[in-house]
Amino acid sequence: MTIIKPIPEVQIERMQCEDLQHVMGIEKEAFPDPWHESFFKRELRKKREHAYLYVAKLDKRVIGYIVFYIFSGEGHIYNIAVDTAYRRRGIGKYLLESALEIIEKNGVDEVFLEVSVRNTAALELYKKYHFQVFGVRKRYYSNGDDAYVLRKEMKCSVTILGESESCLSV
Ligand SMILES: CC(C)(COP(=O)(O)OP(=O)(O)OC[C@H]1O[C@@H](n2cnc3c(N)ncnc32)[C@H](O)[C@@H]1OP(=O)(O)O)[C@@H](O)C(=O)NCCC(=O)NCCS
Repeated sequence: MTIIKPIPEVQIERMQCEDLQHVMGIEKEAFPDPWHESFFKRELRKKREHAYLYVAKLDKRVIGYIVFYIFSGEGHIYNIAVDTAYRRRGIGKYLLESALEIIEKNGVDEVFLEVSVRNTAALELYKKYHFQVFGVRKRYYSNGDDAYVLRKEMKCSVTILGESESCLSV
């Protein structure tokens, strides 16, 4: 997978406690039911092997983040958000591709996530990466909206007798 930076100065880094102020600003603006800061703090403190929290930074400022887990041979994307001022500039794609690259390197077969059936922007983003509807969770969100469960099959390219087979993942 070749990851193309949307803005040359943007860096993807592990989330740190000092990033939380910016992360929470984005989280509260992005979601009607934002995660509580204590959730991020707990995950950062525990440093659990299967939890991955990354930020996209521009000039030391957090402009987006992604939270995903890898367990039981599955990847689970729990959260992704981009600062409204930086949306539609490829940051979401950059975060997702970076996560998928890590997931792929961990030999994971499939990736799951939940997304509101009404979240056009996120659905379009996931469609680009070949996520497909796996199921529906009725009234999953507090406002009564349903969620799609999306699944992406990760298939690494394999070289057979010098010929490279195409890859489902990016
Ligand atoms: C979803 C989100 C992370 C996308 O971030 P982004 O940085 O704006 O996304 P990108 O610029 O990388 O766009 C990637 C693709 O997503 C799709 N997309 C993004 N925003 C879109 C919108 N408003 N309408 C339609 N499609 C959109 C497009 O296909 C786009 O590709 P294109 O620009 O080549 O057309 C961002 O809108 C966001 O933070 N939303 C609020 C939080 C959220 O809903 N998270 C998802 C939870 S499941």
